[in-house]
Amino acid sequence: MNNFIFQNATKVYFGKGCVKEYLSCLTRKADTVMLAYGGGSIKRNGVYDEVTGILHAAGKTVVEFSGIMANPTYAKVQQGAQLARENNVDMILAVGGGSVMDCCKAVALAARYEDDIWEDFWARPGVMEVEPLPLGVIVTVAGTGSECNGGAVITNQDKKIKTGRDYPKLNPQFALMDPTYTYSVPVKQMVSGGFDILSHIMETYLSEPNEDNVSDSIMEALMKSVIRNLRAAIQNPQDYTARSNLMWDSTMAENRVIKMGKKCDFECHNMEHQLGAYTDCNHGCGLAVLHPVYYRHIYQEGLPKFVRFARDVWGVDPNGKTQQELALAGIDALASFIQEIGLPTTLKELGVTDKEQLKEIADSCGISAGSYKKMTHEEILAIFQECYE
Ligand code: NZQ
Ligand code: ZN
Repeated sequence: MNNFIFQNATKVYFGKGCVKEYLSCLTRKADTVMLAYGGGSIKRNGVYDEVTGILHAAGKTVVEFSGIMANPTYAKVQQGAQLARENNVDMILAVGGGSVMDCCKAVALAARYEDDIWEDFWARPGVMEVEPLPLGVIVTVAGTGSECNGGAVITNQDKKIKTGRDYPKLNPQFALMDPTYTYSVPVKQMVSGGFDILSHIMETYLSEPNEDNVSDSIMEALMKSVIRNLRAAIQNPQDYTARSNLMWDSTMAENRVIKMGKKCDFECHNMEHQLGAYTDCNHGCGLAVLHPVYYRHIYQEGLPKFVRFARDVWGVDPNGKTQQELALAGIDALASFIQEIGLPTTLKELGVTDKEQLKEIADSCGISAGSYKKMTHEEILAIFQECYE
């Protein structure tokens, strides 16, 4: 195993009724709370009424920051930061999915930073001596795992860059996770989020080291849990067991536990993020299109792990198959699952209409150092073209 340092600063309150039970206590030190949310799903499913009821009963001044879009933009971050400064906000409460949580992490930093936070943080990796505003989150959709890490993925529309930075001080102080809050997530978004969880695990598992390590063993259990529970939640969206497993799978995939001792790939994420920067596509759907094709490009370099993936995650029978055949059968099983749960399988289906633009997008993608096979921009373009239709 590679050397590592591990810490996770977020305190999780998980389960049915957790918001009612703990929210007022968790916000007790804040007089003014910025309540941040997306396009309005929380108003339709009752979460907004529950949360504002608790905050008002506790005598808080509530400043609303609404309309956070999927794939949050840097312009939206600046708007939130200005609102937080103008109202002397003591704490941000993000209620939503990855987009709301990520935007609020960036707002928490930008509100306390004088200069251009994009240029000094998102545009280049580095350490910043800024104490962000305190942040708490209420998760409403399983997928990104943003609730238990410092990562914030932001889109700069002017520069056509969508990128994430992980700043440990941006780990939320607390995460309230009630699986019943996810009952109202539309099936299309649920499977997209479910695939994002699977992608985070695959991007970590399908990387070195290949020798026996506890992270890989945990990941096999997690991947099987995502596959099983996604199928169950499609059958019955109000299956509490399935929803709670998916919610915790999502956190486990991105709370850094499984990354310990692993190199991590995340090239599919690099590619999806740039597709998103140019086309505003849905994150999980974009990943679903890319993964099987990407893996057919790299499996030979990581053959032993792809064989294990086929056999131990997808249950492919190894009898009578060469190692190559077995590895490819595992990738085929992944592709069949993507079809089975109704995710797109081509860029056209994803809504990408301009084939000519693929070169520019490919050239803008970051190259992962942790992949079994180091990509070139030419090979990324070839993958995009294979994915097109
Ligand atoms: O905006 P509202 O009206 O709330 O609707 C949202 C949105 O349309 C809806 N939704 C959320 N909870 C709901 C619900 N609808 C009904 N009932 C509920 N309970 O779902 C839609 C998608 O929400 P969004 O937050 O965009 O989805 P997701 O959680 O997949 O987040 C995607 C963003 O996170 C980034 C992605 O790139 C993308 O920008 N990522 C963040 C990561 C991180 N911070 O660690 C890692 C990921 O790899 C990812 O890149
Ligand atoms: Zn993701």
